[in-house]
Amino acid sequence: MKKLIKNGIVVTAADTYEADLLVDGEKIIEIGRNLTADDAEIIDAKGAYIFPGGVDPHTHLDMPFNNTVTDDDWETGTIAAAFGGTTTIIDFCLTTGDDTLEKAVARWHGKAEGKAAIDYGFHLMLANLDEKVLEELPLLLEKEGITSLKVFMAYAKEFQADDRTLFRAFKAAKEAGALVMVHCENGSVIDELVTKALAEGHTEPIYHALTRPPEAEGEATHRAIELAHMADSQLYVVHVTCAEAVKQIAEARAKGYKVWGETCPQYLVLDQSYLEKPDFEGAKYVWSPPLREKHHQKVLFDALKAGILQTLGSDQCSFNFNGKKQLGRNDFSKIPNGGPFIEDRFSIFFSEGVKKGILSLNQFVDIVSTQPAKLFGLFPEKGTIAVGADADLVIFDPEVKRVISAKTHHMNVDYSAFEGMEITGEPISVLCRGNFVIKDKKFIGQPGSGKYLKRKKINQGALQSPTAATV
Ligand code: URP
Ligand code: ZN
Ligand code: ZN
Ligand code: ZN
Repeated sequence: MKKLIKNGIVVTAADTYEADLLVDGEKIIEIGRNLTADDAEIIDAKGAYIFPGGVDPHTHLDMPFNNTVTDDDWETGTIAAAFGGTTTIIDFCLTTGDDTLEKAVARWHGKAEGKAAIDYGFHLMLANLDEKVLEELPLLLEKEGITSLKVFMAYAKEFQADDRTLFRAFKAAKEAGALVMVHCENGSVIDELVTKALAEGHTEPIYHALTRPPEAEGEATHRAIELAHMADSQLYVVHVTCAEAVKQIAEARAKGYKVWGETCPQYLVLDQSYLEKPDFEGAKYVWSPPLREKHHQKVLFDALKAGILQTLGSDQCSFNFNGKKQLGRNDFSKIPNGGPFIEDRFSIFFSEGVKKGILSLNQFVDIVSTQPAKLFGLFPEKGTIAVGADADLVIFDPEVKRVISAKTHHMNVDYSAFEGMEITGEPISVLCRGNFVIKDKKFIGQPGSGKYLKRKKINQGALQSPTAATV
Protein backbone atom coordinates (compact mmCIF):
# COMPACT_ATOMS: atom_id res chain seq x y z
CA MET A 1 0.00 0.00 0.00
CA LYS A 2 1.20 3.49 -0.84
CA LYS A 3 1.68 6.09 1.90
CA LEU A 4 0.72 9.74 1.54
CA ILE A 5 2.29 12.02 4.11
CA LYS A 6 0.31 15.24 4.13
CA ASN A 7 0.82 18.81 5.32
CA GLY A 8 4.33 18.49 6.71
CA ILE A 9 7.24 20.87 6.21
CA VAL A 10 9.87 19.13 4.12
CA VAL A 11 13.44 20.00 5.07
CA THR A 12 16.51 19.08 3.03
CA ALA A 13 20.07 20.40 3.12
CA ALA A 14 18.98 22.96 0.54
CA ASP A 15 15.30 23.79 1.07
CA THR A 16 12.42 24.13 3.50
CA TYR A 17 8.90 23.97 2.03
CA GLU A 18 5.40 22.72 2.68
CA ALA A 19 4.53 19.66 0.63
CA ASP A 20 2.89 16.25 0.57
CA LEU A 21 5.02 13.17 -0.07
CA LEU A 22 3.81 10.07 -1.84
CA VAL A 23 5.66 6.87 -1.06
CA ASP A 24 5.33 3.69 -3.09
CA GLY A 25 7.19 0.65 -1.84
CA GLU A 26 10.68 1.71 -0.81
CA LYS A 27 10.78 4.99 -2.72
CA ILE A 28 9.45 8.54 -2.73
CA ILE A 29 7.53 8.80 -5.99
CA GLU A 30 5.98 12.24 -5.83
CA ILE A 31 6.39 15.52 -3.96
CA GLY A 32 3.87 18.33 -4.32
CA ARG A 33 0.96 20.32 -2.96
CA ASN A 34 -2.48 18.81 -2.46
CA LEU A 35 -1.48 15.35 -3.61
CA THR A 36 -4.15 12.66 -3.63
CA ALA A 37 -3.99 8.90 -4.02
CA ASP A 38 -6.98 6.55 -3.75
CA ASP A 39 -5.08 3.59 -2.57
CA ALA A 40 -2.78 5.19 -0.01
CA GLU A 41 -2.53 5.20 3.76
CA ILE A 42 -2.80 8.87 4.74
CA ILE A 43 -0.47 10.19 7.42
CA ASP A 44 -1.19 13.69 8.67
CA ALA A 45 2.04 15.53 9.47
CA LYS A 46 0.60 18.96 10.16
CA GLY A 47 2.94 21.01 12.32
CA ALA A 48 5.78 18.54 11.86
CA TYR A 49 9.03 18.70 9.98
CA ILE A 50 9.79 15.91 7.54
CA PHE A 51 13.53 15.26 7.61
CA PRO A 52 15.49 12.70 5.61
CA GLY A 53 16.41 9.81 7.91
CA GLY A 54 19.56 10.41 9.90
CA VAL A 55 22.75 8.79 8.64
CA ASP A 56 25.06 7.94 11.54
CA PRO A 57 28.53 7.31 10.12
CA HIS A 58 30.13 6.14 13.38
CA THR A 59 28.82 3.26 15.49
CA HIS A 60 30.29 0.30 17.37
CA LEU A 61 27.63 -2.36 17.92
CA ASP A 62 28.46 -5.74 19.43
CA MET A 63 32.13 -4.85 19.29
CA PRO A 64 34.87 -6.56 21.29
CA PHE A 65 36.94 -3.81 22.87
CA ASN A 66 39.05 -3.16 26.00
CA ASN A 67 38.81 -6.81 27.12
CA THR A 68 35.03 -6.86 26.93
CA VAL A 69 32.24 -6.27 24.41
CA THR A 70 29.80 -3.39 23.92
CA ASP A 71 26.39 -3.79 25.55
CA ASP A 72 24.25 -2.72 22.61
CA ASP A 73 24.05 -5.26 19.84
CA TRP A 74 22.58 -4.85 16.36
CA GLU A 75 19.02 -5.27 17.60
CA THR A 76 18.97 -2.94 20.59
CA GLY A 77 21.35 -0.50 18.91
CA THR A 78 19.43 -0.11 15.67
CA ILE A 79 16.04 0.06 17.40
CA ALA A 80 17.36 2.84 19.65
CA ALA A 81 18.81 4.57 16.58
CA ALA A 82 15.39 4.46 14.90
CA PHE A 83 13.67 5.94 17.95
CA GLY A 84 16.18 8.74 17.63
CA GLY A 85 15.52 9.45 13.94
CA THR A 86 18.41 7.52 12.40
CA THR A 87 17.63 5.17 9.51
CA THR A 88 21.15 4.27 8.36
CA ILE A 89 24.28 3.48 10.33
CA ILE A 90 27.78 2.67 9.21
CA ASP A 91 29.51 0.47 11.77
CA PHE A 92 33.17 -0.41 12.16
CA CYS A 93 34.03 -3.97 11.18
CA LEU A 94 37.08 -5.04 13.21
CA THR A 95 39.65 -7.13 11.42
CA THR A 96 41.93 -7.93 14.35
CA GLY A 97 42.08 -11.58 15.33
CA ASP A 98 40.90 -12.89 11.96
CA ASP A 99 43.28 -14.39 9.45
CA THR A 100 41.57 -12.90 6.40
CA LEU A 101 39.58 -9.73 5.82
CA GLU A 102 36.87 -11.85 4.27
CA LYS A 103 36.39 -13.76 7.51
CA ALA A 104 36.25 -10.53 9.49
CA VAL A 105 33.55 -9.10 7.25
CA ALA A 106 31.60 -12.36 7.30
CA ARG A 107 31.70 -12.23 11.07
CA TRP A 108 30.29 -8.67 11.03
CA HIS A 109 27.51 -9.68 8.66
CA GLY A 110 26.68 -12.42 11.14
CA LYS A 111 26.28 -9.88 13.94
CA ALA A 112 23.93 -7.68 11.91
CA GLU A 113 21.81 -10.16 9.97
CA GLY A 114 18.47 -10.97 11.51
CA LYS A 115 18.91 -8.13 13.98
CA ALA A 116 19.32 -4.78 12.22
CA ALA A 117 16.05 -2.85 12.16
CA ILE A 118 17.45 -0.08 9.91
CA ASP A 119 19.85 -0.03 6.95
CA TYR A 120 23.58 -0.35 7.47
CA GLY A 121 27.01 -0.48 5.96
CA PHE A 122 30.48 -1.33 7.26
CA HIS A 123 33.74 0.57 7.42
CA LEU A 124 36.74 -1.76 7.44
CA MET A 125 39.08 -1.23 10.38
CA LEU A 126 42.72 -2.14 9.76
CA ALA A 127 45.54 -2.46 12.29
CA ASN A 128 47.95 -4.19 9.95
CA LEU A 129 48.60 -3.71 6.25
CA ASP A 130 51.17 -6.36 5.41
CA GLU A 131 51.58 -7.78 1.89
CA LYS A 132 48.86 -10.36 2.44
CA VAL A 133 46.31 -7.77 3.57
CA LEU A 134 47.31 -5.39 0.78
CA GLU A 135 46.63 -8.13 -1.74
CA GLU A 136 43.24 -9.09 -0.35
CA LEU A 137 42.03 -5.55 0.38
CA PRO A 138 40.96 -4.28 -3.09
CA LEU A 139 39.12 -7.49 -3.93
CA LEU A 140 37.28 -7.49 -0.65
CA LEU A 141 36.31 -3.81 -0.88
CA GLU A 142 34.98 -4.36 -4.38
CA LYS A 143 33.02 -7.46 -3.44
CA GLU A 144 31.46 -5.95 -0.34
CA GLY A 145 30.90 -2.42 -1.61
CA ILE A 146 32.97 -1.04 1.26
CA THR A 147 34.40 2.38 0.47
CA SER A 148 35.89 3.49 3.78
CA LEU A 149 38.76 2.22 5.92
CA LYS A 150 39.46 2.98 9.57
CA VAL A 151 42.84 3.32 11.21
CA PHE A 152 43.55 4.10 14.87
CA MET A 153 46.54 6.22 15.91
CA ALA A 154 45.58 5.54 19.54
CA TYR A 155 44.98 2.53 21.82
CA ALA A 156 48.65 1.49 22.04
CA LYS A 157 47.82 -1.91 23.50
CA GLU A 158 45.00 -2.79 21.14
CA PHE A 159 44.46 -1.18 17.74
CA GLN A 160 47.19 1.41 17.23
CA ALA A 161 48.74 1.45 13.76
CA ASP A 162 52.18 2.90 13.11
CA ASP A 163 52.82 5.65 10.55
CA ARG A 164 53.89 3.15 7.88
CA THR A 165 50.57 1.33 8.21
CA LEU A 166 48.66 4.59 8.11
CA PHE A 167 50.56 5.73 5.02
CA ARG A 168 49.89 2.38 3.36
CA ALA A 169 46.21 2.73 4.17
CA PHE A 170 46.08 6.13 2.46
CA LYS A 171 47.85 4.73 -0.61
CA ALA A 172 45.63 1.66 -0.80
CA ALA A 173 42.48 3.73 -0.30
CA LYS A 174 43.39 6.05 -3.11
CA GLU A 175 43.77 3.08 -5.46
CA ALA A 176 40.50 1.58 -4.29
CA GLY A 177 38.44 4.79 -4.32
CA ALA A 178 37.97 4.64 -0.55
CA LEU A 179 38.09 7.22 2.23
CA VAL A 180 40.37 6.67 5.24
CA MET A 181 38.84 7.48 8.61
CA VAL A 182 41.37 8.05 11.35
CA HIS A 183 41.14 8.20 15.13
CA CYS A 184 43.68 10.95 15.69
CA GLU A 185 45.39 10.82 19.09
CA ASN A 186 49.07 10.12 19.73
CA GLY A 187 48.70 6.68 21.34
CA SER A 188 52.36 6.28 22.31
CA VAL A 189 52.53 9.57 24.21
CA ILE A 190 49.21 8.79 25.89
CA ASP A 191 50.49 5.36 26.93
CA GLU A 192 53.50 7.04 28.51
CA LEU A 193 51.33 9.55 30.39
CA VAL A 194 48.99 6.79 31.61
CA THR A 195 51.89 4.69 32.90
CA LYS A 196 53.28 7.67 34.80
CA ALA A 197 49.88 8.64 36.28
CA LEU A 198 49.28 5.11 37.53
CA ALA A 199 52.82 4.88 38.97
CA GLU A 200 52.03 8.03 40.95
CA GLY A 201 48.91 6.40 42.35
CA HIS A 202 46.32 8.29 40.26
CA THR A 203 43.55 5.80 39.51
CA GLU A 204 40.38 7.95 39.29
CA PRO A 205 38.38 8.47 36.06
CA ILE A 206 39.46 12.11 35.67
CA TYR A 207 42.97 10.87 34.88
CA HIS A 208 41.57 9.43 31.66
CA ALA A 209 41.15 13.02 30.48
CA LEU A 210 44.32 14.34 32.07
CA THR A 211 46.48 11.74 30.31
CA ARG A 212 44.96 12.43 26.88
CA PRO A 213 45.58 16.16 26.36
CA PRO A 214 44.18 18.07 23.38
CA GLU A 215 47.75 18.48 22.10
CA ALA A 216 47.91 14.70 21.57
CA GLU A 217 44.85 15.03 19.35
CA GLY A 218 46.12 18.11 17.52
CA GLU A 219 49.50 16.51 16.84
CA ALA A 220 48.01 13.27 15.51
CA THR A 221 45.51 15.20 13.39
CA HIS A 222 48.36 17.14 11.82
CA ARG A 223 50.34 13.94 11.19
CA ALA A 224 47.38 12.18 9.60
CA ILE A 225 46.73 15.22 7.39
CA GLU A 226 50.30 15.31 6.12
CA LEU A 227 50.48 11.55 5.55
CA ALA A 228 47.21 11.67 3.60
CA HIS A 229 48.52 14.56 1.58
CA MET A 230 51.84 12.82 0.85
CA ALA A 231 49.87 9.82 -0.39
CA ASP A 232 47.65 12.13 -2.46
CA SER A 233 44.74 10.54 -0.65
CA GLN A 234 41.68 11.58 1.38
CA LEU A 235 41.22 11.79 5.14
CA TYR A 236 38.15 11.82 7.37
CA VAL A 237 39.00 12.68 10.96
CA VAL A 238 36.56 10.94 13.31
CA HIS A 239 35.29 12.42 16.57
CA VAL A 240 37.07 15.79 16.59
CA THR A 241 36.92 17.23 20.11
CA CYS A 242 39.13 20.29 20.43
CA ALA A 243 40.40 23.59 19.06
CA GLU A 244 43.84 22.05 18.42
CA ALA A 245 42.42 19.53 15.94
CA VAL A 246 39.95 21.95 14.35
CA LYS A 247 42.84 24.33 13.62
CA GLN A 248 44.74 21.62 11.75
CA ILE A 249 41.70 20.66 9.68
CA ALA A 250 40.83 24.27 8.89
CA GLU A 251 44.37 25.00 7.72
CA ALA A 252 44.55 21.88 5.59
CA ARG A 253 41.22 22.58 3.93
CA ALA A 254 42.24 26.16 3.25
CA LYS A 255 45.19 24.71 1.34
CA GLY A 256 42.81 22.50 -0.65
CA TYR A 257 43.78 19.24 1.07
CA LYS A 258 41.12 16.55 0.90
CA VAL A 259 40.30 16.48 4.59
CA TRP A 260 36.92 16.12 6.26
CA GLY A 261 35.94 16.07 9.91
CA GLU A 262 33.28 14.72 12.24
CA THR A 263 32.32 15.61 15.77
CA CYS A 264 29.82 14.01 18.14
CA PRO A 265 26.98 15.34 20.31
CA GLN A 266 28.75 14.50 23.56
CA TYR A 267 31.61 16.90 22.76
CA LEU A 268 29.13 19.67 22.01
CA VAL A 269 27.23 19.56 25.30
CA LEU A 270 29.35 17.81 27.96
CA ASP A 271 32.74 18.79 29.37
CA GLN A 272 35.67 17.35 31.25
CA SER A 273 34.22 18.13 34.69
CA TYR A 274 31.83 15.18 34.28
CA LEU A 275 34.79 12.84 34.79
CA GLU A 276 35.21 14.28 38.29
CA LYS A 277 31.83 13.02 39.52
CA PRO A 278 32.21 11.17 42.84
CA ASP A 279 31.71 7.47 43.58
CA PHE A 280 33.30 6.41 40.31
CA GLU A 281 30.40 8.00 38.39
CA GLY A 282 33.00 9.75 36.24
CA ALA A 283 33.48 6.37 34.53
CA LYS A 284 30.18 6.90 32.72
CA TYR A 285 31.92 9.67 30.78
CA VAL A 286 35.09 7.82 29.86
CA TRP A 287 35.58 7.57 26.12
CA SER A 288 38.29 8.65 23.70
CA PRO A 289 39.23 11.27 22.86
CA PRO A 290 38.04 12.48 26.27
CA LEU A 291 35.62 15.27 27.07
CA ARG A 292 37.38 18.64 26.99
CA GLU A 293 37.15 21.94 28.84
CA LYS A 294 33.97 23.82 28.05
CA HIS A 295 35.48 26.44 25.75
CA HIS A 296 36.05 23.79 23.05
CA GLN A 297 32.29 23.38 22.58
CA LYS A 298 31.92 26.72 20.83
CA VAL A 299 34.91 25.98 18.62
CA LEU A 300 33.21 22.76 17.47
CA PHE A 301 29.86 24.44 16.81
CA ASP A 302 31.61 27.22 14.90
CA ALA A 303 33.52 24.66 12.84
CA LEU A 304 30.30 22.85 11.93
CA LYS A 305 28.67 26.12 11.03
CA ALA A 306 31.59 27.15 8.81
CA GLY A 307 31.80 23.76 7.08
CA ILE A 308 35.25 23.00 8.56
CA LEU A 309 33.63 19.95 10.13
CA GLN A 310 30.91 18.37 8.04
CA THR A 311 29.28 15.55 9.99
CA LEU A 312 27.97 14.44 13.36
CA GLY A 313 28.60 10.79 14.29
CA SER A 314 27.36 9.23 17.50
CA ASP A 315 30.41 7.07 18.30
CA GLN A 316 27.91 4.75 19.97
CA CYS A 317 29.96 2.31 22.08
CA SER A 318 27.97 1.47 25.20
CA PHE A 319 28.98 -0.26 28.42
CA ASN A 320 26.77 -0.56 31.49
CA PHE A 321 27.89 1.45 34.49
CA ASN A 322 26.89 -1.26 36.98
CA GLY A 323 28.60 -3.76 34.75
CA LYS A 324 31.53 -3.45 32.41
CA LYS A 325 32.51 0.10 33.41
CA GLN A 326 33.36 -1.38 36.84
CA LEU A 327 36.36 -3.14 35.27
CA GLY A 328 38.20 0.11 35.86
CA ARG A 329 37.07 0.73 39.44
CA ASN A 330 40.67 0.70 40.70
CA ASP A 331 42.44 1.76 37.53
CA PHE A 332 41.05 4.37 35.11
CA SER A 333 42.99 2.82 32.21
CA LYS A 334 40.85 -0.32 32.50
CA ILE A 335 37.49 1.49 32.16
CA PRO A 336 36.06 0.39 28.80
CA ASN A 337 36.11 3.43 26.51
CA GLY A 338 32.76 4.49 25.10
CA GLY A 339 29.25 5.68 25.78
CA PRO A 340 25.61 5.40 24.66
CA PHE A 341 24.79 8.07 22.07
CA ILE A 342 23.07 6.48 19.07
CA GLU A 343 19.57 7.43 20.20
CA ASP A 344 20.18 11.06 21.15
CA ARG A 345 22.48 12.25 18.34
CA PHE A 346 19.74 13.66 16.13
CA SER A 347 17.48 15.28 18.74
CA ILE A 348 20.23 16.81 20.87
CA PHE A 349 21.72 18.37 17.78
CA PHE A 350 18.34 19.74 16.73
CA SER A 351 17.69 21.16 20.18
CA GLU A 352 21.16 22.58 20.84
CA GLY A 353 21.91 23.59 17.25
CA VAL A 354 18.66 24.69 15.62
CA LYS A 355 16.51 25.65 18.59
CA LYS A 356 19.32 27.66 20.13
CA GLY A 357 19.76 29.55 16.88
CA ILE A 358 23.27 28.34 16.03
CA LEU A 359 22.43 26.37 12.88
CA SER A 360 19.74 26.65 10.24
CA LEU A 361 17.33 23.78 9.68
CA ASN A 362 19.11 23.06 6.41
CA GLN A 363 22.53 22.97 8.04
CA PHE A 364 21.12 20.56 10.60
CA VAL A 365 19.92 18.17 7.88
CA ASP A 366 23.18 18.54 6.00
CA ILE A 367 25.27 17.55 9.02
CA VAL A 368 23.15 14.68 10.42
CA SER A 369 22.14 13.15 7.11
CA THR A 370 23.23 14.61 3.76
CA GLN A 371 26.98 15.01 4.28
CA PRO A 372 27.45 11.56 5.84
CA ALA A 373 25.50 10.06 2.92
CA LYS A 374 27.64 11.93 0.39
CA LEU A 375 30.98 11.20 2.03
CA PHE A 376 30.27 7.51 2.41
CA GLY A 377 28.81 6.82 -1.02
CA LEU A 378 25.12 6.56 -0.14
CA PHE A 379 23.76 9.73 -1.74
CA PRO A 380 21.20 10.35 -3.24
CA GLU A 381 19.40 7.14 -2.24
CA LYS A 382 20.09 8.17 1.36
CA GLY A 383 20.56 11.62 2.85
CA THR A 384 17.87 13.62 1.12
CA ILE A 385 14.18 13.88 0.25
CA ALA A 386 13.70 13.68 -3.50
CA VAL A 387 11.68 11.73 -6.04
CA GLY A 388 13.49 8.43 -6.53
CA ALA A 389 15.28 8.55 -3.17
CA ASP A 390 14.67 5.89 -0.54
CA ALA A 391 11.70 6.78 1.63
CA ASP A 392 13.80 7.14 4.78
CA LEU A 393 11.83 9.81 6.59
CA VAL A 394 11.54 11.31 10.05
CA ILE A 395 8.28 12.99 11.02
CA PHE A 396 9.52 15.30 13.73
CA ASP A 397 7.68 17.36 16.33
CA PRO A 398 9.85 20.47 16.73
CA GLU A 399 8.06 21.90 19.76
CA VAL A 400 7.65 19.07 22.27
CA LYS A 401 9.79 19.43 25.35
CA ARG A 402 11.23 16.39 27.11
CA VAL A 403 13.93 15.30 29.51
CA ILE A 404 16.49 12.70 28.46
CA SER A 405 16.74 9.78 30.85
CA ALA A 406 17.94 6.19 30.98
CA LYS A 407 14.47 5.38 32.35
CA THR A 408 12.91 6.13 28.98
CA HIS A 409 15.65 5.47 26.44
CA HIS A 410 15.85 2.30 24.37
CA MET A 411 19.56 1.55 24.46
CA ASN A 412 20.62 -1.53 26.38
CA VAL A 413 22.52 0.43 28.96
CA ASP A 414 21.76 1.46 32.54
CA TYR A 415 22.65 5.14 32.28
CA SER A 416 22.35 8.10 29.97
CA ALA A 417 25.29 10.41 29.44
CA PHE A 418 22.68 13.17 29.04
CA GLU A 419 20.54 12.28 32.07
CA GLY A 420 18.27 15.17 33.06
CA MET A 421 19.01 17.27 30.00
CA GLU A 422 15.95 19.19 28.77
CA ILE A 423 15.60 19.25 25.03
CA THR A 424 13.04 20.40 22.48
CA GLY A 425 11.94 18.21 19.59
CA GLU A 426 11.35 14.49 19.08
CA PRO A 427 10.76 12.05 16.21
CA ILE A 428 7.13 10.95 16.13
CA SER A 429 7.33 8.43 13.30
CA VAL A 430 10.26 7.08 11.33
CA LEU A 431 10.21 5.23 8.02
CA CYS A 432 13.05 3.21 6.54
CA ARG A 433 12.66 2.39 2.82
CA GLY A 434 8.94 3.12 3.02
CA ASN A 435 8.21 1.01 6.08
CA PHE A 436 7.38 2.40 9.48
CA VAL A 437 10.02 1.47 11.99
CA ILE A 438 8.63 3.86 14.58
CA LYS A 439 4.98 4.90 14.44
CA ASP A 440 3.56 7.36 16.95
CA LYS A 441 6.63 6.83 19.14
CA LYS A 442 6.23 3.04 19.19
CA PHE A 443 8.55 0.52 17.57
CA ILE A 444 6.63 -1.42 14.93
CA GLY A 445 9.62 -2.41 12.81
CA GLN A 446 11.22 -5.77 12.38
CA PRO A 447 14.67 -6.80 13.55
CA GLY A 448 16.35 -8.17 10.43
CA SER A 449 14.55 -5.86 8.02
CA GLY A 450 17.55 -3.54 7.73
CA LYS A 451 19.43 -3.92 4.46
CA TYR A 452 23.20 -4.14 4.02
CA LEU A 453 24.28 -1.25 1.78
CA LYS A 454 26.98 -1.57 -0.83
CA ARG A 455 28.40 1.90 -1.28
CA LYS A 456 29.79 4.03 -4.11
CA LYS A 457 33.50 4.71 -4.44
CA ILE A 458 34.64 8.23 -3.76
CA ASN A 459 36.22 8.55 -7.19
CA GLN A 460 32.79 7.89 -8.63
CA GLY A 461 31.60 11.23 -7.38
CA ALA A 462 30.73 10.48 -3.79
CA LEU A 463 33.03 13.21 -2.49
CA GLN A 464 32.95 16.94 -2.99
CA SER A 465 36.14 18.94 -2.99
CA PRO A 466 36.86 20.88 0.21
CA THR A 467 36.29 24.22 -1.45
CA ALA A 468 32.75 23.14 -2.31
CA ALA A 469 31.88 22.56 1.33
CA THR A 470 28.52 23.84 2.41
CA VAL A 471 28.54 26.78 4.77
O1 URP B 1 35.89 5.68 23.40
C1 URP B 1 35.50 5.43 22.27
N1 URP B 1 35.38 6.40 21.40
N2 URP B 1 35.18 4.16 21.96
C2 URP B 1 34.94 3.65 20.68
C3 URP B 1 36.19 3.46 19.88
C4 URP B 1 36.64 4.71 19.25
O2 URP B 1 37.73 5.17 19.55
O3 URP B 1 35.91 5.28 18.43
ZN1 ZN C 1 37.98 6.48 18.03
ZN1 ZN D 1 53.36 20.17 8.63
ZN1 ZN E 1 34.34 5.19 17.55
